[in-house]
Amino acid sequence: MSLFRPDIDRMAGYIPGEQPQDSGWVKLNTNENPYPPSPRVADAVAAAAKRLHVYPDPLGTSFRKAAADLYGLDPDWILPGNGSDEVLTILVRTFVDAGQLIAYPYPSYILYETLAELQGASHQRIPLRPDWSWNLEAAAPVIRRSKMVFTPNPNSPSGNRWSDDTISRLVPPQGVLILDEAYGDFADTPHRMELLKSPIGKQLIVTRTFSKSYSLAGLRFGFAVAHPDLIAGMRKVKDSYNCDALSLAAAEAALLDQDWMLANRVRIIDTRTRLAVALRSLGFHCVDSQANFVWATHPTSRHQAIYEQLKARKILIRFMKFPGLSSTGESGADKVWDGLRITVGTDPQVDAFLAAITEIVASL
Ligand SMILES: Cc1ncc(COP(=O)(O)O)c(C=O)c1O
Repeated sequence: MSLFRPDIDRMAGYIPGEQPQDSGWVKLNTNENPYPPSPRVADAVAAAAKRLHVYPDPLGTSFRKAAADLYGLDPDWILPGNGSDEVLTILVRTFVDAGQLIAYPYPSYILYETLAELQGASHQRIPLRPDWSWNLEAAAPVIRRSKMVFTPNPNSPSGNRWSDDTISRLVPPQGVLILDEAYGDFADTPHRMELLKSPIGKQLIVTRTFSKSYSLAGLRFGFAVAHPDLIAGMRKVKDSYNCDALSLAAAEAALLDQDWMLANRVRIIDTRTRLAVALRSLGFHCVDSQANFVWATHPTSRHQAIYEQLKARKILIRFMKFPGLSSTGESGADKVWDGLRITVGTDPQVDAFLAAITEIVASL
């Protein structure tokens, strides 16, 4: 006899990337920022730590005001969360009933599938083309039936980004489109919040995280941006105090230090270009990335071996495989689309990675 809900029995559960707790790793596997957060963060946390005997502001008013100013919106367009993963959970619980359909591009962020399973919702993967673009004609009937469509923008693991025209065609007629912009700050156009005031705005929700561009993965903070009517519904669902006082204070301080974040962004983009050029010269195919990682595939397809040999040298990247689809666009139970996702680290980290992978590739 199982004590679990049948949905929980049936699901595998999300498996996060490896987080080694010992030192000495070149860690390029979970898209963290290799640079420290703004020094103003530690000061803000120290100040907030003096008031830990009282509950935090349940609505995160001060953070919401700062974020709204940055994007030229009113604070009631912002909903803070305990990491953008929590915001995604709140979204599913707010908008999708058991049995309704959640759709997402494939390959992309597998957590969407887990969230659908937790909610007892149906879910459908929409296969991307081998060049990582949407096949909008094939997607249209699925989108029409969906209550919620999720898409990272830029996508993970590929790092490419969608045009405004593509985005407008992903909105389900009877539902909402979630633009998961975890990597949005690394793109050429760092945000498209204008879309929220366009005709699709009442069915669009943008999510953002502090784990990547603001170097605060260890803190857990993200937020949603959407029309106040949508935010009002989400507020009913979130825990009363879903963000603690320390993370609210830290996120606000990080957000207000735009110069710090933007300087790190430029460094990461420069290193990203160098990394992609070097991988291509080693024979890899690399997608043009708008994020803080690159997706690389090798003509030998020996991706798992490359990952393991790097790991043996304490260099951690992500070997990813997406069953059911091949990288040439065929689908079938025996097909797998796989490759390597490499986070853009510091220049010395990337140099260590390139030196090792050069040797490994030569010996394949
Ligand atoms: C596409 C995408 N969305 C959301 C997240 C989660 O970010 P957070 O750390 O804010 O929960 C990640 C984390 O890697 C991600 O890749």
